[in-house]
Amino acid sequence: MQHFTELCVLFLMILTPVLSNKPTGDVDVLVFLPQNNSFMFSQARVAPAIRYAQERLEAEFGLRFRVHFENTDPANQALFALADRSCGPRPDLILGPVREYEAAGVVRLASHWNIPVISAGALAIAFRNKRSEYTQLTRIAPSYMKMAETFAVVFEHFAWKSALLLMEDDMTERDCYFTLEAVFHLMDDYTVKTYSFPPEEPLRTDEMFQDIHDTEGKESSVYSLDLV
Ligand SMILES: *[C@@H]1O[C@H](CO)[C@@H](O)[C@H](O)[C@H]1NC(C)=O
Repeated sequence: MQHFTELCVLFLMILTPVLSNKPTGDVDVLVFLPQNNSFMFSQARVAPAIRYAQERLEAEFGLRFRVHFENTDPANQALFALADRSCGPRPDLILGPVREYEAAGVVRLASHWNIPVISAGALAIAFRNKRSEYTQLTRIAPSYMKMAETFAVVFEHFAWKSALLLMEDDMTERDCYFTLEAVFHLMDDYTVKTYSFPPEEPLRTDEMFQDIHDTEGKESSVYSLDLV
């Protein structure tokens, strides 16, 4: 999910076509990344790539980017920081946020304001909606839908007919949920069961398989995931 080198390269690629049409002033870039270093996409890890792109663009093309980093550790901080810009100058470009819920709010508002957003995250299937809510979003990593398409091909290849999706659901970031949501979404033609468990509880595989064994042959129950 955290392809920050690609972020830097893409940043350069996206801007290359506009070089013939150079903006006169500085380009104002707002970067939403957490300071908490337990995330692979923390500011400390990603900032060097952004700074590198910034320096190269200025040295080679004379393009000046003013980069402002905003910490997204507190919940909703990214959205609030962007909303605070309603009355002042708005950024020309936004990088991040990566996490799904955070990205949802920021990209909606940015799309409303016609500000382009480039994110290494926002991989859930809901972000495919490029007609209304997420018009300004460019994702640089393969989305969960792409991963799900791989699953579908594997299933077809081996002629598998049913699947059990195991999902650790922390009920906050919900990365596993969003990952499997795409798989579930693509597997209409299969019998798909899902089983979710909280991260703090061990996965009780014996109980789970006993349960599957007991219900095998009975009318298959397919649990549907509610799309958020
Ligand atoms: C950093 O994030 C991790 C994972 O979400 C969390 O467990 C930890 O408490 C956070 N640390 C701080 C200092 O907020």
